[in-house]
Amino acid sequence: MMTLNNQRIILTGATGGIGIELAKQLLPYGCKLGLVGRSMEKLEQLSSELNADDAFNGYSNDHITLITADITTSEGRHQIVDEMEARFNGYDMLINAAGIMDFTSFLEQTDDRIEAVFKTNVIAPMQLCKKVIPYMLAQNKGHIVNVGSIFGSIGFAWFTSYSSSKFALRGFSQSLRRELAETPIKISYIAPRAVKTSLNSSAVYNMAEEVKMNMDMPDVVAKQIVYSIIKKHKEKYLGFPESLFVRINAVLPGLVDMATRSQNKSAKKYVQQD
Ligand SMILES: NC(=O)c1ccc[n+]([C@@H]2O[C@H](COP(=O)([O-])OP(=O)(O)OC[C@H]3O[C@@H](n4cnc5c(N)ncnc54)[C@H](OP(=O)(O)O)[C@@H]3O)[C@@H](O)[C@H]2O)c1
Repeated sequence: MMTLNNQRIILTGATGGIGIELAKQLLPYGCKLGLVGRSMEKLEQLSSELNADDAFNGYSNDHITLITADITTSEGRHQIVDEMEARFNGYDMLINAAGIMDFTSFLEQTDDRIEAVFKTNVIAPMQLCKKVIPYMLAQNKGHIVNVGSIFGSIGFAWFTSYSSSKFALRGFSQSLRRELAETPIKISYIAPRAVKTSLNSSAVYNMAEEVKMNMDMPDVVAKQIVYSIIKKHKEKYLGFPESLFVRINAVLPGLVDMATRSQNKSAKKYVQQD
């Protein structure tokens, strides 16, 4: 079990559907949050929401700092650690929750966009880990939480780049966890199923309705993520039966090819709406 009280946390993706809920749920534990996003306007909106809420009264201003940074640039990553050092004298945890996604035919995705998906979802989280781990080792404590996806264990048609980027993030988390096993640094990989946020376009929502894809509310997912952090889960797949499908796909991928064939055909017509 880990206590969250006074944990200094870098939260990327703070302005997103899941990130906003994570911020709201981490604050009452007394955490100090570096809220990271590219848009100062969205960060300020989140900050006023937190300050206006009686539930956070008294500690939100002292406990948050807004960091406008693009995690795919080295300048942005520098800015994140510099601001945490200046404001909170360091950090104890990094939650990599920023991400981008496309629901599209792989052949129609541009080379630049494929690169952006991998830079945002895999390479930047790796580079951020590389940036914070030496400090964590020197402090003799630290926890890194990579937010993956069920799509990072089951390859989904029409989400090919996104799905493969989350496969990579899962592999990175597992390898790094083993590499750091003899150190006090903890690495967690937490994989939600689909969540109702603006990461998903209206075409995804329409497709999800037709193929009966389960979609969770972001506050529920944030609660599960916080629970997994407290429990120090190494790998956690959220939602049933999706967590079972992850295991079936690992041993019998051919069966899953067959089982998803008709769903993939139905999904195709929604791809064309995007
Ligand atoms: N929603 C789902 O169905 C779902 C399911 C499973 C897993 N997940 C994962 O959960 C995480 C959060 O997803 P979400 O649904 O909350 O997404 P979202 O609502 O679309 O928010 C995405 C967040 O990522 C930030 N971001 C994107 N590119 C960035 C960059 N280059 N630099 C800095 N920040 C950047 C965005 O900030 P700005 O745009 O303000 O810069 C925003 O805060 C992602 O890793 C996603 O893959 C989501």
